[in-house]
Amino acid sequence: MVRGVLVALVEVNYWYFKLAGYDLLRLLGGYLNMNELAIARAIHILSIVIWIGGVAFVTMVLIPVIRQSPYKHDQMEIFNGIENRFAFIARFTVLLAGISGFYMVYQLSAWQRFSDARYFWMHAMVFIWLMFIFALFVIEPFFIKNHGRLIKDGNGISDLKKTQTVHAVIFILSVITIFISVLGAHGVLN
Ligand code: HEM
Repeated sequence: MVRGVLVALVEVNYWYFKLAGYDLLRLLGGYLNMNELAIARAIHILSIVIWIGGVAFVTMVLIPVIRQSPYKHDQMEIFNGIENRFAFIARFTVLLAGISGFYMVYQLSAWQRFSDARYFWMHAMVFIWLMFIFALFVIEPFFIKNHGRLIKDGNGISDLKKTQTVHAVIFILSVITIFISVLGAHGVLN
């Protein structure tokens, strides 16, 4: 009964728009077309929030807390469990940020920015992106696999210290990039 009423309402609406000269599907298509740059921007920022937000958490919360833990043997186990799970999320969001980013370059016809030093913030974005692509798709799966392997070689905590330094450097570079990209995208830098 309810379903019947809903179907009738959709039908009436559809024909109303059709008679009024609109086609709902075309309307939706047109809306997406008109706003695709804004939608790509929203996807770009959303992926960066999740990805760099995760890096912030690992750098400022997870590693310091684990390093303070008295259970030395468990430190790497916990770190690996969380980091390996995050690696999957990071791979997905890094890809999404890249696709949406290049799509915006295409939509804005902004390829020439890469040969203009005033657009250094564009270079910074691609540099950070390439760094993560290399780390997540080459170094981690083929060379590190599991940070925990290091503890089996008897290294343990000193390695988490190194890990913390690496994460801190990457995180600071990412934050600077976000800052200058917002300024650049809103015309403050040129
Ligand atoms: C393949 C890599 C990337 C490409 C091709 C790319 C491309 C772009 C483009 C074309 C814009 C719009 C610029 C404009 O409106 O003039 C943009 C905006 C932005 N991107 Fe990227 N990006 C990439 C990676 C990144 C990364 C790694 C970060 C962060 C660490 C980032 C952060 C931002 C931010 C914060 C904005 C500004 C959005 C706004 O305020 O409107 N991007 N990006």
